[in-house]
Amino acid sequence: MCVRFTLSLCLSVSFSLLSVSAAQAQELSPIDASLIEQQDSPEMIELGKKLFFDPRLSRTGTISCNSCHNAMEGGDDGRVTSMGVDGLLGGRNAPTVWNSALQGSQFWDGRAATLELQAMGPMVADVEMGMAGHDQVMERIAGIPGYVQEFQKVFGKNARIDLDEAITAIAAYERTLITPNSPLDRHLQGDKQALTDIQKQGLQLFESIGCTECHSGPAMNGWNPEDKEPVFEEFPRFDDVAAVEKYDLASDTGRQQVTGKQEDAHYFKVPTLRNIALTAPYMHNGQVPTLEEAVRVMASAQLATELTDEETNALVQFLYATEGEFPSQTMPRLPSRAGQSIVPVAAEPAVQAKPLDH
Ligand code: HEC
Ligand code: HEC
Repeated sequence: MCVRFTLSLCLSVSFSLLSVSAAQAQELSPIDASLIEQQDSPEMIELGKKLFFDPRLSRTGTISCNSCHNAMEGGDDGRVTSMGVDGLLGGRNAPTVWNSALQGSQFWDGRAATLELQAMGPMVADVEMGMAGHDQVMERIAGIPGYVQEFQKVFGKNARIDLDEAITAIAAYERTLITPNSPLDRHLQGDKQALTDIQKQGLQLFESIGCTECHSGPAMNGWNPEDKEPVFEEFPRFDDVAAVEKYDLASDTGRQQVTGKQEDAHYFKVPTLRNIALTAPYMHNGQVPTLEEAVRVMASAQLATELTDEETNALVQFLYATEGEFPSQTMPRLPSRAGQSIVPVAAEPAVQAKPLDH
C-alpha cells in the first residue's frame, strides 16, 4: 500500500511493476468490428444461451446464470452481493457479463483464465447454483431429451453430453454479449458530435488525472485482446483515505487468495467500465452505492486526488457515454422433460417459507 506523502515514490514503483503490455495499453480504444466477429456457429451460441437461462442447472431449480447476470439488463443483479440457492449470500458483487469476453481473466481476483473455466464454477458453488457436483449437472442436462439432440447437433452425433461441451457453449453465448457504438466509441472513431461538452471535459480529466493508467483499452480494463497476461492492480492503493474504512475496502485480500503470495495481497483485476452506470452498486464488495461515489472513491483511493463536485460530475457524465448498443436478447424456449420433473424432490429448499396468508 502507499500513503499519500509517498505518492511519487509509489507511482514510480507501480509504473515499473506494470507489465510491458499494460504500459503500452494506456489509451482508450473503441470496440471495433473485429472484437464483435463471432467464430462460433449460431447453433452453438443458441445452445449456450439456453444453458445460461436454464434454472434447472441449479439444485433447487430456481437459479440460472441469468438470475445473477441479467442479460436483459445490465448483466448483473443490482445487489450488493449475490443471492444463490436457499437465499444464501455470496461474498462478492456480481460483475456484468456484458463485454466479459474483453477481459484477460474472469472474477474480481482473476481466478479463472477464460470464460469456459469461469462457467464451471457457479453450478457447483454452494452459494450460487448449489449442485453437488458437475456429474449431477450433466445428468440433469442428459435427462432432458431436447438437450441431448441439441448437443449432438452442435458437437456431433456421438457426443457424450459432458461438461466441456456445456462450458464451451456457454462461453460462446457470452462472447456475443458485446456492446459497441457507444458515444465514447463514436468519439474515438472521429465523430466530434458524439460526446457532450461536459463528457469531453470528463474524458480529458479521466486521462489527465490518471484513470487511464489502469482503465484503458477497448473494455477500459487495461487489457487488449492481443495481450497474453491479465492486468491486476492494487486496490486500495492509498489505504489512509476515509473511504477505505467507510466501505470496508481492505478486508478482502483479492488475488492473494488465488496465488497465496504476499505481494498479491489487495490486488484485483481492473474491471471494465463499459456501461458502468448500469451496474451499481460498485466495487468487489458492492459497498459503494452510486457511480458518483465510486468515482470519488477511485480518485482518492487510487490516485490520492480529491475531486471537486464539478470534476466528479464531468467524470460521471463521461462514464455514461460508455453505454453502448446492446444486441437484442430474446428469452430462449428451453427443452422440456415431458411427464416428469427433472428437479428431484430432495432438492427442495432446506428452509421452508411460512405459508402464504393471501
Ligand atoms: C448466485 C449468483 C450467481 C450465479 C447463479 C452465477 N454467477 Fe457469475 N458471478 C457471480 C459473482 C458474485 C461473481 C464474482 C465472484 C468473484 O469474483 O469472486 C461472478 C462472476 C462471473 C463472471 C466473471 C465476470 C468478471 O468480470 O470477472 C462471469 C463471466 C460469470 N460470473 C458468468 C456466469 C455464468 C456463465 C453462470 C452460470 C453458469 C454464472 N455466472 C452464475 C454471481 C453469480
Ligand atoms: C491503479 C489502478 C487504477 C486507477 C488509477 C483507477 N482505477 Fe478504477 N478500478 C481499479 C481496480 C483494481 C478496481 C476494482 C476495485 C475493487 O476490487 O473493488 C477499480 C474499480 C473502479 C470502478 C468500479 C467498477 C465496478 O464494477 O464496481 C469504477 C467506477 C472505477 N474504477 C473508475 C475509476 C475512475 C473514474 C478512475 C480515475 C479517477 C479510476 N477508476 C482510477 C483500478 C484503478
